[in-house]
Amino acid sequence: SVVILDFGSQFTRLIARRFRELGAYSVILPGSAPLERIQQESPQGIVLSGGPSSVYDAQAPKPAPGVMDLDIPILGVCYGMQYLAHEAGGDVKRAGKREYGKADLTRYGGQLFEGISGEFVAWMSHSDSVTQLPQGYEVIAETADTPVAAIENTQTRRYGLQFHPEVVHTPKGGQILGNFLSICGVARDWTAEHIIDELIADVQKQVGEGRVLLAISGGVDSSTLGLLLARAVGERLTAVFIDHGLLRLGEREQVEAALIPLGVHLVTVDARAEFMGALEGVSDPEQKRKIIGREFIRAFEREAAIQAKEHGQFDFLAQGTLYPDVIESAGGLSADKSGAANIKSHHNVGGLPEDLNFKLVEPFRTLFKDEVRALARLLGLPEHIRMRHPFPGPGLAIRCLGAISEDKMDILRRVDDIFISGLREFGLYDGCSQALAILTPIQSVGVMGDERTYSYTAALRAVTTDDYMTAEWARLPWEFLATMSNRIVNGVHEINRVVYDITGKPPATIEWE
Ligand code: XMP
Repeated sequence: SVVILDFGSQFTRLIARRFRELGAYSVILPGSAPLERIQQESPQGIVLSGGPSSVYDAQAPKPAPGVMDLDIPILGVCYGMQYLAHEAGGDVKRAGKREYGKADLTRYGGQLFEGISGEFVAWMSHSDSVTQLPQGYEVIAETADTPVAAIENTQTRRYGLQFHPEVVHTPKGGQILGNFLSICGVARDWTAEHIIDELIADVQKQVGEGRVLLAISGGVDSSTLGLLLARAVGERLTAVFIDHGLLRLGEREQVEAALIPLGVHLVTVDARAEFMGALEGVSDPEQKRKIIGREFIRAFEREAAIQAKEHGQFDFLAQGTLYPDVIESAGGLSADKSGAANIKSHHNVGGLPEDLNFKLVEPFRTLFKDEVRALARLLGLPEHIRMRHPFPGPGLAIRCLGAISEDKMDILRRVDDIFISGLREFGLYDGCSQALAILTPIQSVGVMGDERTYSYTAALRAVTTDDYMTAEWARLPWEFLATMSNRIVNGVHEINRVVYDITGKPPATIEWE
């Protein structure tokens, strides 16, 4: 594997992703991770990430003692390169000019650039520069403003890049990272097939003859996990899918049709009445979210008890935790967790209380979302679930503003279905990160035929985003929006007005509640 030591760059995760795309397993650890922790990963190479510090800061972060002495290749990126040079006796200074953005390499060569030819655009973002090379190093790339844009010491196998090879703005950066893998001798066998075999073996080892309980949400993570676990432990898995009445049109049937034929022992719990009852008359968004979270746990625990009585006690609870949730990086927990939680109390299917007294099985702890999608394809999860937009745990309840009712859920379900089916039909679905319909409590006057109407306003929202922390509203074609508006007012009598949400996040959030 390759171990990436994180010194606080916003791009650190991208380095890991790039390596994995190249078929190599890589792990992110805090920059200060002790030598023993690093060695647990059996590293064949180390990357020192970028970061906001200057090597001359009193608090400048550095690798733990012994790390730089390891006899394996080390690649420093940006701050990492400056650290490498500084540590080896070179000089680093605040550059006269802060360099930020794209720069052409005016010259390049050496092992990292092997097989690369032609123009090389590099993404720079630094204010310090290496001004004097340490002994044994050579400059292998430069730009007009940065005479030392890349360095190498082929004896000690130490390499440095002042620019960021991991970002898309460095189009040939992937080749550099690939060359580093070759220098390290890292096998490129991190493929979906390989991952599945390994995960199944790991689960079998952990679970033994034990029984496993899993909450299915209908999303890609828990569905894929269900398929994987069914392969690993067969009938000793019970997957529980709670129909809280806040699902999309046909969702329950789709989930059942996707999982049961592939051998998942799936139990669907009809908890619609309980949820509806608990939510009756509740209009405060936070209150709604809390009630749904609470009811979910109740329903799940109730069903777990029934299943345990029938088939025997469960020893393990499986969760679809992903790598971004657990990265031990410089910034602690991933931003999407810490940031969003202050604004809205999230309810995640599978986000169950700790006192359930199960041991956890989390096979996806080392995977990124796109890797889970790649597994899902091999495990046979249908495309429409595999490539689905995220859907919040509280479901349509937080898209029906104010107090919900069976009738309102029914209206919203039909509007949502027209919009989402339309996006798919017009080939626009995959271009959006998330799309949703909202039922507002606004009633307004309209005319249909010769009749006066006084009906609800539906809002449509589609966004593009990488991380769901910030988002742009999707510039959907007007013609498409016109078609959607027509279909909705014609198909859903309770709606006589359709609006499109043209607000980014911030200041708005993606969901309306
Ligand atoms: P907001 O509305 O905060 O949403 O901009 C950001 C992303 O999080 C999803 N979301 C949730 N997901 N449980 C979830 O599993 C929740 O309670 C929840 N609330 C919001 C939202 O759909 C968007 O993708």
